[in-house]
Amino acid sequence: MKSVCSNTIILRPSLLLTRPAYTVSRPVFLSSKRPFTHTAMVRGDPYKPAARVAGQKQDVWTIVNEAAAASPVQPIVNMGQGFFGYNPPGFVVNAAKGALDRVECNQYSPTKGRPRLKKAIADAYTPFFGRTLDPEKEVTITTGANEGMLSAFMAFIEPGDEVIVFEPFFDQYISNIQMAGGKIVYIPLDPPARGATENTSAAEWTLDMAKLEAAMTDKTRMIVLNTPHNPIGKVFHKDELRAIGDLCVKNKVIILSDEVYDRLYYVPFTRIATLSPEIADLTLTVGSGGKNFYATGWRVGWLIGPEHLIKYVSAAHTRICYSSVSPLQEAMAIGFEEADKHNFWDETKQEMKAKMDLFNGIWKELDLPFSDPEGGYFVLVNLAKVKLPADYPFPPHVASRPRDFKLSWFLIMELGVAAIPPTEFFTDDNAHIVEDWLRFAVCKEDSVLEEAKNRLRGLKKFIQ
Ligand SMILES: Cc1ncc(COP(=O)(O)O)c(C=O)c1O
Repeated sequence: MKSVCSNTIILRPSLLLTRPAYTVSRPVFLSSKRPFTHTAMVRGDPYKPAARVAGQKQDVWTIVNEAAAASPVQPIVNMGQGFFGYNPPGFVVNAAKGALDRVECNQYSPTKGRPRLKKAIADAYTPFFGRTLDPEKEVTITTGANEGMLSAFMAFIEPGDEVIVFEPFFDQYISNIQMAGGKIVYIPLDPPARGATENTSAAEWTLDMAKLEAAMTDKTRMIVLNTPHNPIGKVFHKDELRAIGDLCVKNKVIILSDEVYDRLYYVPFTRIATLSPEIADLTLTVGSGGKNFYATGWRVGWLIGPEHLIKYVSAAHTRICYSSVSPLQEAMAIGFEEADKHNFWDETKQEMKAKMDLFNGIWKELDLPFSDPEGGYFVLVNLAKVKLPADYPFPPHVASRPRDFKLSWFLIMELGVAAIPPTEFFTDDNAHIVEDWLRFAVCKEDSVLEEAKNRLRGLKKFIQ
């Protein structure tokens, strides 16, 4: 091959594989700035996205939010996405305002997080963990729990490694694991058998330990746990966690325990990292300031774990986004420092439980069974009894999805209430498990919940 003078453009191997070569003529500018035409070899589609973002079906959030915007019933009561319908508590908002006035709070944070926030988290979680947490070595701050989990996968997953995920799952786990090159092994939680006919408890969604044990191979590197669980609202029982933890110790599997709803539990709540030193040695616990302080847009999260795990999560986080937003870390540090003084943690739990009970009154009224959550702010409702009109004009991207997407669309368009179709949190093979259910987020003002109930009374005429 001639040198650069041959005007041959050498393309990346990934592009070479995609399309047959073809030639184009185009002007090339040399240093003299004199254009001349030459024949360049161009292969493949320069706009072809990487596999990790290509070919994804339209995500549920876009479908539901677009439908909500297009609904003839406005303003919509949006109980779909889990964002709060009210502001963070005053002492946290004021802390953020104060932080914005401080020069050092407006500049880069250290990559592992602001020392004040790491200390506040270590102090707040030390009593829960039953041992003194080292803020410098055992806590790292991330850009929301989500980026924290991406950092954890990037830190430990090599292409081909297996990661066990329970179904239903929080959808971001999937792309995060895939971006790291991991292979997901799914284990469905079994729904309550009576779920379509009677009210049940989120506790009745069960894990078949034999299935989990069978799924562990020598390629299994990590398992993702979520308690309190989104969307089920299950708080894993201590015995379940002990069995999972012991299995992970036996197989040397890292546990990523997503505990972002850790302040919202209505039954006793156990953290898997506290069950034995061996389990703690393998566990990364994930937290979210957005969920704790009603500030999902602030994008502050953290991981707590042993130094030998945390240091690699921090290393990945440094490469992904360098550091996380500074003034809001400071505000959350103050939030943790002052929360007890304001009795915030007790109040947040009581308020959310009251919202849950207030809203669920409508299902009792309509005689539609729901799965009573043990934690978090989502409720799953079974709408098998709702008969959708046979000739209802669902758009093709909804008509082609399971029945829960149609239920969701119908509620948005006819009643002006948005909820999430939970099949999105399952693989295609297991989606049938929840195709009659919808997920409602109750983290909204009471007046909004009352309005939702009013509108949902419109379902009566479709119930058989
Ligand atoms: C189970 C679960 N994990 C993690 C997250 C993400 O938390 P963050 O907003 O802090 O990234 C969510 C958000 O909805 C969630 O439901």
